[in-house]
Amino acid sequence: MSTVQFTGINKSFGTVDVIRGIDLVIETGEFVVFVGPSGSGKSTLLRMVAGLEEVSSGTISIGGEDVTDAEPSERGIAMVFQSYALYPHKTVYENIAFNLRLHKVPRLELDRRVREAAAILQLTDYLSRKPNQLSGGQRQRVAIGRAIVREPQVFLFDEPLSNLDAALRVEMRLQIEKLHRDIGATMIYVTHDQVEAMTLADRIVAFDDGRVQQIGSPLELYRKPSNLFVAGFIGSPRMNLLPGIVEAGGLVRLPTGEGTPVPLPAAATQPVGEEVTIGLRPEALHLGGEVGSEPALTGEILSLEQLGNLSYAHILCDGLPPMIAQLPATAAFARGSNVTATFSSGDVHLFDGASQAVDHQSTQGG
Ligand SMILES: Nc1ncnc2c1ncn2[C@@H]1O[C@H](COP(=O)(O)OP(=O)(O)OP(=O)(O)O)[C@@H](O)[C@H]1O
Ligand SMILES: [Mg+2]
Repeated sequence: MSTVQFTGINKSFGTVDVIRGIDLVIETGEFVVFVGPSGSGKSTLLRMVAGLEEVSSGTISIGGEDVTDAEPSERGIAMVFQSYALYPHKTVYENIAFNLRLHKVPRLELDRRVREAAAILQLTDYLSRKPNQLSGGQRQRVAIGRAIVREPQVFLFDEPLSNLDAALRVEMRLQIEKLHRDIGATMIYVTHDQVEAMTLADRIVAFDDGRVQQIGSPLELYRKPSNLFVAGFIGSPRMNLLPGIVEAGGLVRLPTGEGTPVPLPAAATQPVGEEVTIGLRPEALHLGGEVGSEPALTGEILSLEQLGNLSYAHILCDGLPPMIAQLPATAAFARGSNVTATFSSGDVHLFDGASQAVDHQSTQGG
């Protein structure tokens, strides 16, 4: 059993609270991704699991055992960091073996574990090379190999792929996913890249400001973000967030001259006059329709981004923040032209209060 349980975890540095009341259970064999913007406390929480950072209050258990005050080496964890920190003068074999030698693991046992890890990570052909004869992805695999040979109950990853270029990140993402399938250990993986979070996680824990904002499967967070933070953070390009006021008849009035009111989702409980935010994913907007039976917004195409397989149109409607619509690659719209964007009421997300136009796009990478 290698569950990881956080109970009432708080952490302050001096007078600054960086982790605020985390309660969370990670199941044995689960792959959980902590995602959130820079400074939200992801690394701090992970380092507390590793025993590299003390908790201010609360308890952490691993495998049902309270490890809050245990030494890092007594916790059954191994951690992989963004920087690989390999020993430059040692071979791949010796880098992977380093910790086992430190713990005086018998020679045959050591050799078996190093070769098994190398096989899992496809490093067998590189065992006699030095780190400077490896690519970035191969170096990161050596760092992961060093963690594997310790046969930890729990793997902790802190942004392990941030130093790699885009293509290598994709490749390493697949490797880490396969590693999890092969060895079935509990894994906690920290990233600010929501693409990594979406593709790797059994469950995502979305953080902001030291608090859990939502916990769920990637698609749960994508389809049913429980607040504006998650709505804006998960999904790239981000969800369009539009301010509105609830009016009579189950409608939301947007501050735009053109277009139709938006129907309130059936479960909505907000009273007439309430300030709300409407959320529409880029793929929920369909361009080229007419104002008619479906809700619609009319605006001007500011710019078009053609990615080959699809395109994004940036649209400005009077009185609203700029919106992004996803189009098929074959769609032919010209910059500067006026368009009508229709959407179905089932695709409307509704959030309490006004959106703070926080732009997390620049932190999403991937
Ligand atoms: N040793 C420290 N002393 C004081 N403040 C710290 C210390 N370590 C972290 N912090 C603060 O705690 C907050 C959370 O930091 P943390 O490193 O956990 O963020 P993060 O979510 O991992 O961010 P990033 O994505 O940039 O790595 C930040 O505001 C940071 O400045
Ligand atoms: Mg960090």
